[in-house]
Amino acid sequence: MTYQISSLKDYNETLAESIQNPIRFWESQAESFTWHSKWDTVLEWEFDTPSISWFKGGKLNITENCLDRHIEKRGDKVAILWEPNDPSEEVVKYTYKQLLDEVCKTANALKEQGIVKGDRVVFYMPMVPALAIGVLACARIGAIHSVVFAGFSAQALADRVDDAQAKMIICSDYNNRGNKKIPVKAIVDEAMDKSCNSIEKVVVLKNSDEDINWSDDTDVWWHAIVEEQSTECAAELMDAEDVLFILYTSGSTGKPKGVVHTCGGYMVYTCFSFKNAFQYKGDDVYWCTADIGWITGHSYIVYGPLLAGATTVMFEGVPTFPDAGRFWEICEKHRVNQFYTAPTAIRALMAKGEEWPAKYDLSSLKMLGSVGEPINAEAWHWYDKHIGKGNCPIIDTWWQTETGGIMITPLPGITDTKPTYASYPMPGVQLELRDAEGNVLEQNGVEGLLCIKFPWPSMLRTTWGDHARCKKTYFSTFEGVYFTGDGARRDEEGRIRVIGRVDDVLNVSGHRMGTAELENAINEHPNVIESAVVGYPHDIKGQGIYAYVITDGTVDRDEFVKSLRTVVVREIGPIAKPDKIQIAGGLPKTRSGKIMRRILRKIASDETDSLGDISTLLNPDVVDALIAGKV
Ligand code: WT7
Repeated sequence: MTYQISSLKDYNETLAESIQNPIRFWESQAESFTWHSKWDTVLEWEFDTPSISWFKGGKLNITENCLDRHIEKRGDKVAILWEPNDPSEEVVKYTYKQLLDEVCKTANALKEQGIVKGDRVVFYMPMVPALAIGVLACARIGAIHSVVFAGFSAQALADRVDDAQAKMIICSDYNNRGNKKIPVKAIVDEAMDKSCNSIEKVVVLKNSDEDINWSDDTDVWWHAIVEEQSTECAAELMDAEDVLFILYTSGSTGKPKGVVHTCGGYMVYTCFSFKNAFQYKGDDVYWCTADIGWITGHSYIVYGPLLAGATTVMFEGVPTFPDAGRFWEICEKHRVNQFYTAPTAIRALMAKGEEWPAKYDLSSLKMLGSVGEPINAEAWHWYDKHIGKGNCPIIDTWWQTETGGIMITPLPGITDTKPTYASYPMPGVQLELRDAEGNVLEQNGVEGLLCIKFPWPSMLRTTWGDHARCKKTYFSTFEGVYFTGDGARRDEEGRIRVIGRVDDVLNVSGHRMGTAELENAINEHPNVIESAVVGYPHDIKGQGIYAYVITDGTVDRDEFVKSLRTVVVREIGPIAKPDKIQIAGGLPKTRSGKIMRRILRKIASDETDSLGDISTLLNPDVVDALIAGKV
């Protein structure tokens, strides 16, 4: 079994060992899994190209480790416990045995539809068990899954399908979210009309009674292809370094990039980090509220928990439907032991009042987790008091799509916790803070750029179709280390507090968004000449989106603002809708023509008394006008 740290002494020793002898440490972790043949080398790496391989030559299938491996001991244990959007509908449970059967049937159906090892399959689905089953079915046959969050627009979906050159889209007819029904298949049709030329089949899960448009050339019903399949499907033998999935994420430049994760290292690390960060034990019921469209859902709803043989709750709905007590009602109903959510959800529920959690019995909870953005002290204390009742350690987990798994976190009940601090590295994680010149900051009580100087098994291997971009984004800022894009502080006792992005990436409700991508979307509006997007502090979202826009002057303000939001929703999706739009006469620029975002950020955040030096601007006179026009 994957090692579970059980005391502070154990943590300190494990961490020390993992740094002194990473090869031996990770090799011993890997040995607890099912492999068809052993690796030739544990680790080969250099961060220049970069080129990283873990357990090279080892043959495995991650689904055998998620499913088959558990059948003997816990075949009848609930693997996935699904809670529907509508609380009056029935809860659905899959035991490990049932889940294996469904995954095999679906895998056989995909094979019959022509999907082979290495093909890309895009998912655009609600949070229903079929999504987890479909993802695992891909992994079973060696197809590469790429889940696109169903809140993205047809254009954003098409961009990802085209980049991945996917052969198949798997979607639903409609999604249920709160009291809304979202016409998912119609969005897929729109994406198919735009481009998606690589797509041969669209598999549609029936999730409502509504009618949909149908194309006999491409569309097939999920049930029609899956129902009659055999429950036996031999797992495709994968090399440890074969691609498991691609997940798109935004960066500071250009279009979203496809972060690539591979089979062996991802498996070892997500299982290890799951067991340790959540201290999952026995028949605990674990619930992560994320969507599988994000890395959190991949690693800590699907792979990590299933690798560890856990019961993982999957929730279709939203925190405020039918009312603001829904999360707590679910915790009570399923006797949830570990609960993992995002600060934005905590803040939104905090705003609804403490009477909501007070209605429910939350005594089953043992620990609470937070992820996606810095958790502010107020939200931390509310979470501690009103959800944990002062008895549940809070783990503030820092990680990224690129890291594959949790990198910095307290271990509940083992290490101490401090509000707003993600605190301590997981074993195997070698952190470093650097100043802007690249000097390593050795001492405590400093702030710097967060880097990682040694490989860990679940790190990204490349960005799909563009290795140079991977090198440039993560391995070129400083030579020989992975740069996270985040700034962090180390306190006097060595705990880490991650402050936030230092690049042009926003974190809006825990969703990562590149300003360049937002500006490209805004610039699609016919009346826009130029734009600049920055983040500003937002009570619920963490960061709000503030757009400065120069127009051609032909439009009425209210109409323009409305139509601009529509354009952004069309280009990216509702999560990218600008909160504030200022029509500006000009943007502050350096003499080389670069927009000075620092100034725009200050104005948007009402920090105009600390604008700093503006004399180097090409056009310092625009600053006063921008301040006067602040919305
Ligand atoms: C960025 C990664 C990891 C899953 C969800 C987001 C920010 C994430 C924390 C935290 C402070 C955090 C960072 C990071 N972030 N967790 N606990 N404290 N910041 O994944 O979309 O890849 O975003 O989210 O800025 O770089 P992602």
